[in-house]
Amino acid sequence: MKDFLLFSGTSNIPLAQAVAKLLHTTLGKVDLSRFADGEIRPWIQEDVRDKMVFVLESLSYPMDEHVMELALMGDAIRRSAPKNMIAVIPYMGYARQDKQHRAGEPVSARVIAKFIEVSKFKEVITVDLHNDAIVGFFQIPVSNISALDVLASTVKKLSLPHPVVVSPDVGGVKRARNLAYVLDVPMVVMEKKRFLDRHDTSESFQIIGDVKGMDAIIIDDVISTGGTIANSAASLKEARTTSVTVLASHAVLAGEAVRKLSDSPINILIVTDTIPLSKEIVFPKLRVVSVASLLADAISSVIK
Ligand code: R5P
Repeated sequence: MKDFLLFSGTSNIPLAQAVAKLLHTTLGKVDLSRFADGEIRPWIQEDVRDKMVFVLESLSYPMDEHVMELALMGDAIRRSAPKNMIAVIPYMGYARQDKQHRAGEPVSARVIAKFIEVSKFKEVITVDLHNDAIVGFFQIPVSNISALDVLASTVKKLSLPHPVVVSPDVGGVKRARNLAYVLDVPMVVMEKKRFLDRHDTSESFQIIGDVKGMDAIIIDDVISTGGTIANSAASLKEARTTSVTVLASHAVLAGEAVRKLSDSPINILIVTDTIPLSKEIVFPKLRVVSVASLLADAISSVIK
C-alpha cells in the first residue's frame, strides 16, 4: 500500500476511527481549534508532502460548520503539497436540494460540489447520494458507494416470512428495485406528496401494489423528520401488512424524528453510521450497521 494519511473532521470521529482501524492506521493529527469569535482554525500536524491524503467528514448537522471544516482542512493540506487529496463524505448534506423546486431557490447540492472542488479536493468518496445525478455537479471523480448490500444482509438475517420491498415515494423506486432484486422479493411503490410552503412536511397516499399479510421492508436514503417513514408505516399497517421493517442509509433524525419513529408501527429500523447517533437517541427498534468496511475498501482501491 502506498503512503497515505487519513484525517477526520469533527462530524463522525467514531466512523473515521473504525475506517482507520480497518486500514491498519490511526487518524492523522489535526488541531481543529476555534478563534474567540467562532472561526474554525484547522492546523494539520503531519507531513503530508507527496502523500495520498484523505479527509473524512460527514456533512451532517451542523452541516454548515462541517462544510467549512472540510473546506479549510482541504486548503491547509493542499498548501503542503500532497500527492493527492480525497474527500470522504459518508453523508452529503444539502444533497436533497438537488434541483430548483421553485423559482428563487438555489441548487444547493451543486454549490456544495463547487465548494469541495474549490478547496482543491481531487476526488470524492461518498455513500448513497440522494440522487445519482449529483455526481454530475462535480467535475472531479466521485465514487458513490452503495450501502444496499450492508442493509440487505442485515434484513436477510431477520428471515421475514412474506417480504415485500416498499419504496416510500416515486423518487426511491430505483433504490427499492435494487433491494427487491438483491433479496429476490416483490416490490410496491407509495405515492408521497410534499408541500412546498411547509418545510419537511409530507403525507403518504396510496400504495401501488398489494401488501396485505406481507412483511413490508421500506427503503429510503435519508430519514430526516421521520415524517415519510412514519406516514408510510401507518399506511402500510392500514393496508394490513404483518410487519414493517425500515432500512435507511442516513439517519439524520432531526426534530421530533425519534419520537415519531418510536410511536409509529415500525417493528425494526436499520440505519447505517454515516451520521453518528448519540446515546440519547438510541431506542429499542433501532439497529445500526457500519459502512466502515465499505469506506475502507474504497480508500484501499485508491491507494493500492
Ligand atoms: C426524499 O426524497 C427522501 O428520499 C426522504 O424520503 C426524505 O428526505 C425523508 O425526509 P423526512 O424524514 O423528513 O420525511
